[in-house]
Amino acid sequence: MIAEPEGDVGHYVATLIFPSPGIWSWSISAFGPEQSLPPLAVLSLTEYGEALFVAKGCAMCHVHRESGVTPVATINRGPDLSRRSFDAAYLREWLRDPSAVDSDAVMPALGLSDDEINALIAFLNG
Ligand code: HEC
Repeated sequence: MIAEPEGDVGHYVATLIFPSPGIWSWSISAFGPEQSLPPLAVLSLTEYGEALFVAKGCAMCHVHRESGVTPVATINRGPDLSRRSFDAAYLREWLRDPSAVDSDAVMPALGLSDDEINALIAFLNG
C-alpha cells in the first residue's frame, strides 16, 4: 500500500482495509528501513457496538449483561436491554432520535453517526 500526499506538505494518507478483526502488526517504510508500529486492535462490528454502548453513555441508563457496567442513572433510567432484540429499521430510527419515534420519549438523542448506529444495532441484536 502506497500513501498519497494530501493537504499540508509532509502529510500522507493511506486507507487500510483489514480482512478480519483481531490484533494486527503493521509497519511503515518512509525515508529508510521498514519501521514497526504498535499493534492495531481491529474490532468486529459487534465489538465496536459494545464499546460504543459504554462510550456513548447508554450504559449509564441501561443494564446490558455484556457491558459489565452498572447504570448510575437514578432518574430517566431505561429498560434492561440484555436479552432484547429489536427490528433493525425501528432501532435505527429510535437511536437517531427517540422523540421523533415517540413524542413522550425520555431517552435523549445522542448525535450518533450512521456507522455508530449500525454497530449498536449489531451489538444489541447480536
Ligand atoms: C438518560 C438515560 C438514557 C440514555 C443515556 C440512553 N437511554 Fe435508551 N432509553 C432510556 C429510557 C428512559 C427509555 C424508555 C423509553 C423512553 O421513555 O424514552 C429508553 C429506551 C431504549 C430502548 C428501547 C426502545 C423501545 O422501543 O423499547 C433502546 C433499544 C435503547 N433505549 C437503547 C439505547 C442506546 C443504544 C443508548 C446509547 C446510544 C441509550 N439507549 C441511551 C434512557 C436512556
